[in-house]
Amino acid sequence: TTTPVKVAVTGAAGQIGYSLLFRLAAGDLLGPDTPIELRLLEITPALKALEGVVMELDDCAFPTLAGVQIGDDPTTVFDGVNLALLVGARPRGPGMERGDLLEANGGIFAPQGKALSEVAADDVKVVVTGNPANTNALIALSNAGDIPARQFSALTRLDHNRAIAQLAARLQVPVTEVKHMTIWGNHSATQYPDLFHAEVSGRNAYEAVGDHDWVENTFIPTVAKRGAAIIEARGASSAASAASATIDHARTWLQGTAEGDWVSMAVPSDGSYGVPEGIVSSFPVTVTDGEWSIVQGLEIDDFSRARIDASVEELQGERDAVQELGLLG
Ligand code: NAI
Repeated sequence: TTTPVKVAVTGAAGQIGYSLLFRLAAGDLLGPDTPIELRLLEITPALKALEGVVMELDDCAFPTLAGVQIGDDPTTVFDGVNLALLVGARPRGPGMERGDLLEANGGIFAPQGKALSEVAADDVKVVVTGNPANTNALIALSNAGDIPARQFSALTRLDHNRAIAQLAARLQVPVTEVKHMTIWGNHSATQYPDLFHAEVSGRNAYEAVGDHDWVENTFIPTVAKRGAAIIEARGASSAASAASATIDHARTWLQGTAEGDWVSMAVPSDGSYGVPEGIVSSFPVTVTDGEWSIVQGLEIDDFSRARIDASVEELQGERDAVQELGLLG
């Protein structure tokens, strides 16, 4: 028998959790032959609701689910975890300024980073989905003592998948024909979904579209504002697609990118493409043996440069704000 992989999920009683836990327990992350043990973190008032979710997990009798533990103390829940999916975050409330939001999230992600460094497995990989995801990842990694920064990343895979879907629909091709999609920058309205390096059926995507106006005024804003469009239509934020993208992100990180393709991940910048170190920004990455590398050597024209710079500037502003608040360990 194989040792179960221990996967922590925070905010487990939330909307994304309600989709994510069942996909994880069903074996969507590591396949049917790898048992998985779930470690679920919530705030105290949500533990009762979480118990109800665990009753449902039991009732699915998932063959790959080796165990479930729940709790409200990160140092207990994160003990020995190999993968931590940090989904729980503080949403922006009425009248809340950006500084308040960053501070509230710092109160979540700083202690969770600390707890991970104390008790998680040495090889732990940390994925931040909870918003503001890039900066929450920065807060967590800078409070995580001796865990190498490269073991932290934030989710832009949902934006990446949205970009693939929009492009495939426009060109009326299956999504599997789209390769080399890239989201640059922040998981926010400033993100830059890049068609200049994407390919459709082996052809340059920007040329295949052949319509700059569509790229600039339809494609980019549709991808960047998709979350708001879903809230408007559904009356609730995207949860199943965010859960699906979180699994895609973690699976790619654990099992590698497909031959000849790359994915988008927000990772601690090493200075590539003029993105300064000290922020967590989305890049095109390949993954081999559990290690990501930023794809090098792409030519960035003026159109892309301006958009990448704008998103990076926003990330630097968030970084400066959390630094001033004393949230970077
Ligand atoms: P939700 O509000 O339904 O669930 C969040 C859960 O986190 C709640 O159950 C809450 O009790 C819990 N929580 C709060 N503080 C916690 C703490 N300190 N420890 C453990 N749990 C805690 O929200 P939903 O829809 O599940 O979304 C979760 C986060 O994911 C939000 O920040 C949302 O903005 C973000 N998100 C990110 C996306 C991305 O692409 N990066 C896409 C969609 C959502």
